[in-house]
Amino acid sequence: MAKLNENYLNLKESYLFSEIAHRVDKYISIHPDTKIIRLGIGDVTLPIGSTMIDALHEGVDAMTSSSTFKGYGPERGYDFVRNSIVEYYKRNGVSIEADEIFISDGAKSDTGNITDLFDKDNIVMVPDPVYPVYVDTNTMDGRNIIYIDANADNQFLPMPDSNVHADIIYLCSPNNPTGATYNKEQLKTWVDYALANNSIILFDAAYEAFITDEALPRSIFSIDGAKKCAIEFCSLSKTAGFTGIRCGYTIVPKALTVTASTGALMSLNAMWNRRQSTKFNGVSYIVQKGAAAAFSEKGMQQSRQNIKYYQENAKIIANCLAKKNVRFFGGVNSPYIWFECPNEMESWAFFDYLLENVQVVGTPGAGFGKNGQNFFRLTSFGNRENTIEAMERIENLL
Ligand code: MLT
Repeated sequence: MAKLNENYLNLKESYLFSEIAHRVDKYISIHPDTKIIRLGIGDVTLPIGSTMIDALHEGVDAMTSSSTFKGYGPERGYDFVRNSIVEYYKRNGVSIEADEIFISDGAKSDTGNITDLFDKDNIVMVPDPVYPVYVDTNTMDGRNIIYIDANADNQFLPMPDSNVHADIIYLCSPNNPTGATYNKEQLKTWVDYALANNSIILFDAAYEAFITDEALPRSIFSIDGAKKCAIEFCSLSKTAGFTGIRCGYTIVPKALTVTASTGALMSLNAMWNRRQSTKFNGVSYIVQKGAAAAFSEKGMQQSRQNIKYYQENAKIIANCLAKKNVRFFGGVNSPYIWFECPNEMESWAFFDYLLENVQVVGTPGAGFGKNGQNFFRLTSFGNRENTIEAMERIENLL
């Protein structure tokens, strides 16, 4: 009889956003004529800019002639897109090399798949609340997870405790779900902790494009020493509206090495290359054409217009909550607004309350961890009209 990975028994029955979709579908089946406004999953709604669209078309056109046709691409991604990322980082004052970059179909897959490089016997540290992928993927592998509290007292920016050891640390900044963003000193403290503990930081920068405060770090590699202890994940999903197109990238510095029990020096860059070339066949040429355009100055300018639009939505949400004296976090350097459920309501109960009374869908904080139990997340990725309508409905309800 086949033996299954019984770690799956330790998972919640379904992934957070699948559970939400299931509850909403159930509601719609009973109330088919109501207008639901979805501010739950962080999915973009605006079309992507013409620079990216033109490049995607060029990619398609290349497939029409044998002289330009592309089959399997280079394992780490085409040079033209990796070089465009090097330039993008350079414009933000961070130096990385093209062969430290791996193109993928998104940060979700990479933050999950990176666990392949690590033994089961590592202590994994995650903040609570946290993006559920980090917890679920380590649970699937049977790893020991320890949590550090992110809460209103520490502005949802937990710092390391020198008395607590972790081998692998997940950080997400700007944070999903809380929107909290580490400053350079705080990130330096984490890097110093990782160097002192021989631990590795898995840094999720998927929301870096939402940083408006120029003093805040967009990449962990803007911190001295980070190349010896960190891997960075990023994505064009939120930066350039690629949630449906799918393209992300992971930066594994060549300086990141670990001594194996045999004494051999192992390069994480080489290991990730080995893992990806074995289990992944790369992102399509067409998508990589669009991605390279997204990293160009013109492409970024266009995407920034979309980000500004979402940031206006965030203000609309924040203004309504402020008017109702609801305590909230985020929404400035992040597309997410994280707020306390009114009357100390439990977050799934508040989810049902909003769905049933005003047909607005958000994300219950409990889905991100125990510290989210009484919190709720709204996304600013909706369209303007719906965001205004949702907040009017919520304002009247509260
Ligand atoms: C979220 O809503 O938390 C994100 O959209 C999920 C994701 O990026 O996978």
